[in-house]
Amino acid sequence: MTQDEMKQAVARAAVDYAKGGIIGVGTGSTANHFIDALAEVKGRIDGAVASSEATATRLKGHGIPVLDLNSVGELEIYVDGADEITEHFAMVKGGGGALTREKIVAACSKQFICIADESKLVGVLGTFPLPVEVIPMARSYVARELVKLGGQPRLREGFTTDNGNLILDVHGMSIVDPVSLETAINQIVGVVTNGLFARRGADVLLLGTPSGVKTYKK
Ligand code: A5P
Repeated sequence: MTQDEMKQAVARAAVDYAKGGIIGVGTGSTANHFIDALAEVKGRIDGAVASSEATATRLKGHGIPVLDLNSVGELEIYVDGADEITEHFAMVKGGGGALTREKIVAACSKQFICIADESKLVGVLGTFPLPVEVIPMARSYVARELVKLGGQPRLREGFTTDNGNLILDVHGMSIVDPVSLETAINQIVGVVTNGLFARRGADVLLLGTPSGVKTYKK
């Protein structure tokens, strides 16, 4: 089974969690498979809140209503991929640059369903560079502060987030205490948010493996 087939399998499995109401939808290739699978049962839900412009466009393309987060209450579920996830459900996200909106929609959801192929499961986070969204004028200051925390930040060249900001990808971090590091980076002035989802991690992990989808719950 290829990596993409494993992504498709977990995306189809996640559709079973979309039982009604309004759901939150993530960003990335695995989330795109979820949107495509969701389209087949779209009558089951009232609509979706998108975590990026790209996701909103794909949802609308399938005729799934996209709602403003401020016009809806708490969401039942949020379905999204991850760049890395541990057995404790802490994640690195933001490879696609949508981390801030992803974190906002996740915060508004009762349950975070993470969908990922088995390559994303790691013992320690940090091999995948940690994305940090920064206000443009704070770029150099934030980079210096990230060096003090032990990282090697690199500007994601030619990329602007949906919020008009920049991304610093932080290399060389072995993240043994993701909750503390998430908090510390978010306290740097000029940081919008960082791609550690540890304080609010996943609740369910649907992991794609060659032998099928494995389900892990908190
Ligand atoms: C988007 O900003 C990310 O958080 C994605 O959820 C993450 O990069 C996973 O992407 P793939 O599903 O494409 O691997």
